Amino acid sequence: MSHPKNSNTEAMSTQNDPSSKQPSPASREEPEPSCGNGSLPLWLIGMTGFALFSAGLYLGIFNGGFRGDIFNERDSSPALLFPEKSVPGALAGTGAATATSTESPVERGKKFYNNPPASCVTCHQPTGNGLAGSFPPLAGSEFVQGGSKRLGMILLKGLQGPIKVKGASFNGAMPAWEKVLSDKQIASILTYVRQEWGNKAGEITPDQIGAARKEFAGRTEPWAEADLLAVPADAELPGGTPAVAPVAQEPKK
Ligand code: HEC
Repeated sequence: MSHPKNSNTEAMSTQNDPSSKQPSPASREEPEPSCGNGSLPLWLIGMTGFALFSAGLYLGIFNGGFRGDIFNERDSSPALLFPEKSVPGALAGTGAATATSTESPVERGKKFYNNPPASCVTCHQPTGNGLAGSFPPLAGSEFVQGGSKRLGMILLKGLQGPIKVKGASFNGAMPAWEKVLSDKQIASILTYVRQEWGNKAGEITPDQIGAARKEFAGRTEPWAEADLLAVPADAELPGGTPAVAPVAQEPKK
């Protein structure tokens, strides 16, 4: 309560001030807390420090690139805590998709699709439908289900500018993956997206991605739609598996 100097109000305030008649609840219980050396317990300092440190660490790792358009805390940077060689060998460390030898290319591709460092899922979504106006669909996409050449080009070098997918227009940019993912990783991701969400297209092999890497080694820019359309829609990269019977079968007697 304030104590005005004005004499009229002083009389009133003295009357109404409960502290003048009886001790305030606070003064009955404990003394006012005061500043002083040693009054801040060590455990409190420690806990506050730990909380701030943890919050900073969390934000540093799970910042999602601070991008408002794609914020997703799963888009993390575990490499900060667990440095690893990412190109072009297999990935190790928490959070990053790792390949085991017993998995099929589709299973491997699914892991890479959904986890760093590829995290295609961030933009193209778990449904493969993308986001209208921002990220084109992979489900039912003519590029995904067409020839392997266009698809290999897109993945290795990225894509930017206006493009039509399934009749809908997009005008964004996808980064290049050639420095982030190995041939084997790209091949398994593509095999996965070609056979998920009702897509029905054949396997893509690491040899095919390797062939595309060589063929387009001199290309440093992302592709534009015109570059893709200049390549026949059904053009295949060399090194693919035969269209029929991709798995070696016992000859029948
Ligand atoms: C940062 C967001 C982002 C990520 C991550 C991303 N893409 Fe894309 N992708 C795009 C955008 C945007 C386009 C369209 C570019 C344009 O508008 O020219 C695109 C286009 C494509 C296309 C050609 C168009 C279509 O829909 O068929 C394919 C195929 C594709 N992406 C596959 C992938 C795969 C596979 C991955 C994971 C390795 C991936 N993308 C990761 C944003 C992303």
